[in-house]
Amino acid sequence: MSAPENKPASKLSDLGVTQPAQVAPLFAEVRARFDGEVTKDFIEVLWKEFRDEWLGRKSGVLAQITNNWLKPATPDLKPAIGAALNELRAHVEAKIEERRVAIEKSEEEWALSRERVDLSLPGVVRPVGSHHLIRQVFQEIEDIFVSIGFSVVEGPEIETPYYNFEALNIPEFHPVRDDMDTFYLDLPKGAKTPLLLRTHTSPMQIRTMEKQKPPVRVIVPGKVYRRDNPDATHSFAFHQIEGLAVDTDITFCDFTGTIEYFVKQFFGPSVKTRFRPSYFPFTEPSVEFDVSCPFCSGTGTSAAGGTCSKCKGAAWIELFGAGMVDPAVYGFVNYDARKVSGFAFGIGIDRLAMLKYGIDDIQVFFQNDVRFLRQFP
Ligand code: DAH
Repeated sequence: MSAPENKPASKLSDLGVTQPAQVAPLFAEVRARFDGEVTKDFIEVLWKEFRDEWLGRKSGVLAQITNNWLKPATPDLKPAIGAALNELRAHVEAKIEERRVAIEKSEEEWALSRERVDLSLPGVVRPVGSHHLIRQVFQEIEDIFVSIGFSVVEGPEIETPYYNFEALNIPEFHPVRDDMDTFYLDLPKGAKTPLLLRTHTSPMQIRTMEKQKPPVRVIVPGKVYRRDNPDATHSFAFHQIEGLAVDTDITFCDFTGTIEYFVKQFFGPSVKTRFRPSYFPFTEPSVEFDVSCPFCSGTGTSAAGGTCSKCKGAAWIELFGAGMVDPAVYGFVNYDARKVSGFAFGIGIDRLAMLKYGIDDIQVFFQNDVRFLRQFP
């Protein structure tokens, strides 16, 4: 299809227009062409081109009419052409502006539709994590002790032999060091002191008392490390909560009362506690605390009639070691052993969690298998 003839590019004389009566049809033709084009589907760039094609100052169609028709017109044609041109200009300008507004609006709508949030679409489901069972048990125990005035402190997992052993009244060559097969770090020659992964949370007893005068009431949750071969009840890393209370006039009764309170809070009010003599270099006397088996109500017999699998028929379950702080320990932290007294305990968290939640292999705590973790949301 050839482009429509652009009459405004030609002079009136060339178009054969000599009579005023010919003016109206001529303008009608131009206007019809404009009306045919102005409704086309424009994007903004094309609209600008179209606007310039018609309204461009130098060579737009209307400028051509001015130059080719109006200016050279004979006096009898001029009024008719002038009037028709004004009318055409008003029409062209109005329509082109109308289109501009429409194009702008539709572009805005399009942008809006792209940005609109479609609430009917399925959302992005992000997996929500939860606390590890060990962390949950820590929390449970912390809550119990915090409720009776203890505060929670934490300490370094890399220790010096002084804090891990000596200041706890465990001198070098003391036989209990053999029980704690220790990970020593490889250090450059000439290092000031050997370093090791703490074998228990007890070093924090010393660090706490060094920093703070009595009264002291702290618990210390944390990871500890020993060169144990992994099996269902041993792992090279495990968890403890240390407890320490030191003040004037703390008695053995305060000690057992506190432990009993904790055990009842943790296992339920119907359990009983007992303690047996034991030995730890940093406590004197030292004890081992037992709880009456919460699973068979301390009978040793399961509900079905057989031997209770938790306490193996013993009716008691060994819980943790504890004792009155050995006066020798106070000597390491400049406490006056004649004025203060206190107690300490060290709870193995993994064993407690296994007991309470019926878990028979300590390794599951460290394997991070989500099928296990999800059972304790
Ligand atoms: N630190 C000891 C261990 O890991 C546990 C322990 C026993 C801690 C008696 C204490 C305590 O504070 O009084 O085997």
